[in-house]
Amino acid sequence: MALEDTFVMVKPDGVRRGLVGEVVARLERKGLKLEHIRRLVISEETAHTHYGEHVDKPFFAELVEFITSGPVVAMWWSGESAVAVARGLMGPTNPIEAPPGTIRGDYGLVITENIVHGSDSPDSAVRELDIFFHRQRGEG
Ligand code: RTP
Ligand code: MG
Repeated sequence: MALEDTFVMVKPDGVRRGLVGEVVARLERKGLKLEHIRRLVISEETAHTHYGEHVDKPFFAELVEFITSGPVVAMWWSGESAVAVARGLMGPTNPIEAPPGTIRGDYGLVITENIVHGSDSPDSAVRELDIFFHRQRGEG
């Protein structure tokens, strides 16, 4: 058993399309626990911090423009193997390759606009929760 925390975010396309409830419902149905949730517009600075690992990739500028293009919904989830479980529910990065039954497989068509973000490791989760929630549990 490994109780973990993970960071999941509905990206601007998901918010625009009204898919916040869909994403929340799927994670809840699986048994993960929602600890915190907030809606915000990501600044360019936060986008660079959050996606810093991709700064040298050809798609970085497009990614930053997209992720700052409208409100996102940032969420802190916890549960058994929460990092891998959330990633499994999301599906592979490219929605074209994502199987039906996954969020990206059911709702996505374009790689940049793939509806959700999820931490890719427990270390990434700590880093990302720190960016969006300052890692504070409980009220807030
Ligand atoms: P995320 O970080 O958003 O959860 O996605 P991920 O781990 O599945 O994929 P990652 O490699 O971290 O890529 C981050 C986001 O960049 C966009 N992307 N565009 N045009 C492209 O080739 C390309 N590759 C990646 C996607 O929005 C991806 O989610
Ligand atoms: Mg990633």
